[in-house]
Amino acid sequence: MTSDHNEYDKLSIVGTGELLLNHSNPVLPSYGRPACIFWGNAMKSAMSPQSKLPDVGTTIFTVIGQLSAEHNALNLSQGAPNFSCQPALIESVAKAMREGHNQYAPMSGVAALRHALSAKAEALYGCKYDADSEVTVVASASEGLYSAISALVHPGDEVIYFEPSFDSYAPIVRLQGAKPVAIGLSMDDFSIDWDQVASAINSRTRMIIINSPHNPTGAIFTDFDIERLTALTQNTDIVILSDEVYEHVVFDGERHESMACHPQLAERSVIVSSFGKTYHVTGWRVGYCLAPAELMSEIRKVHQFMMFSADTPMQVAFAEALADPQSYLGLADFYQQKRDLLAEALSESRFELLPSRGSFFMLARFSHFSPLTDDEFVLSLIRDHQIATIPLSAFYSNNKPTGLIRLSFAKDNDTLYEGARRLCRV
Ligand SMILES: Cc1ncc(COP(=O)(O)O)c(C=O)c1O
Repeated sequence: MTSDHNEYDKLSIVGTGELLLNHSNPVLPSYGRPACIFWGNAMKSAMSPQSKLPDVGTTIFTVIGQLSAEHNALNLSQGAPNFSCQPALIESVAKAMREGHNQYAPMSGVAALRHALSAKAEALYGCKYDADSEVTVVASASEGLYSAISALVHPGDEVIYFEPSFDSYAPIVRLQGAKPVAIGLSMDDFSIDWDQVASAINSRTRMIIINSPHNPTGAIFTDFDIERLTALTQNTDIVILSDEVYEHVVFDGERHESMACHPQLAERSVIVSSFGKTYHVTGWRVGYCLAPAELMSEIRKVHQFMMFSADTPMQVAFAEALADPQSYLGLADFYQQKRDLLAEALSESRFELLPSRGSFFMLARFSHFSPLTDDEFVLSLIRDHQIATIPLSAFYSNNKPTGLIRLSFAKDNDTLYEGARRLCRV
């Protein structure tokens, strides 16, 4: 499978913003590129730059968000929480601002925060990262992913990742002149077929990107995954990029299999995580990377010329917040209650809910009662039932219909009840 197919081409907005399904009509523009022509008001330029990502348009999340607004739909599509963070965290940021923490932070991050992160990784995962050379605070996990891939992947390299996947991995790889190699997760339980990974590895394989807990499926890594990943990467120079933004959202008493728990994996891994997910502040754009010094020094070379540093007052506040381990250890229970509330409220619906073992998401199957594709089904939910979700096919490079939609339960309880009520009418 290649990423040559546009993930979003089929969702196009023209004229008044009506969403069209664009499977068969290549004449329709992909949303995001020629929009200026169709909206009418945008400036026209004589320039026509050669695109580095010619098949990429505006992301599905933006498209669905706009449609939801038009149809006044309740939004269970995005992972962003619709509830606020602890008031003390906001107070802490305000205090940091009042105290003058308003200029550039050190490139690698505020020292107190790096030390707090190093201590947390050691306490939770048993791995000691040097706060000066192996911890970097970045301006969101997205920036961490970009910096790590950009620093470590070269033109001609191959990068293995798993689909369905978070949308940024493959485009970032392509921007380096490298080749993203997608391996499909099992459609039964979204586990990894490690034999397929073994066959995909060759001398050009530079990196494997993993994500546990997994967006969009809610799957988590098991002992078996760790065993196979360790065996396949030992004695290679393959870097593991481990997206652990949902590290504190693992349900039913299971443990998060961080790469930092496993010395053989930790020595070749870059771990990326996000304060936005852990503290309900996705708009603050602060994340962090953990990696051995040799890898980290390369990542910092990119980070320093991209962002230089993340927002200072937020870093000061997060250093204070981490002093209370309950601020992150309580997260699994908090989201488990939301998962269970939504599942219970949907128990009378026609959807078949797939197990979610972590993250903010669960998948719901509709293919046994509707012949529509995922996109058509999501569209009908917005238009006819005023409820927004995401088609699982949007997380695949070939957009093959899956008969599944992704629901986010990172919402307040009233929204979850009302969302379930609307879905029960379907
Ligand atoms: C799996 C995964 N990785 C990375 C990110 C990006 O995190 P951030 O908001 O910190 O950039 C997200 C956000 O939705 C995500 O779901």
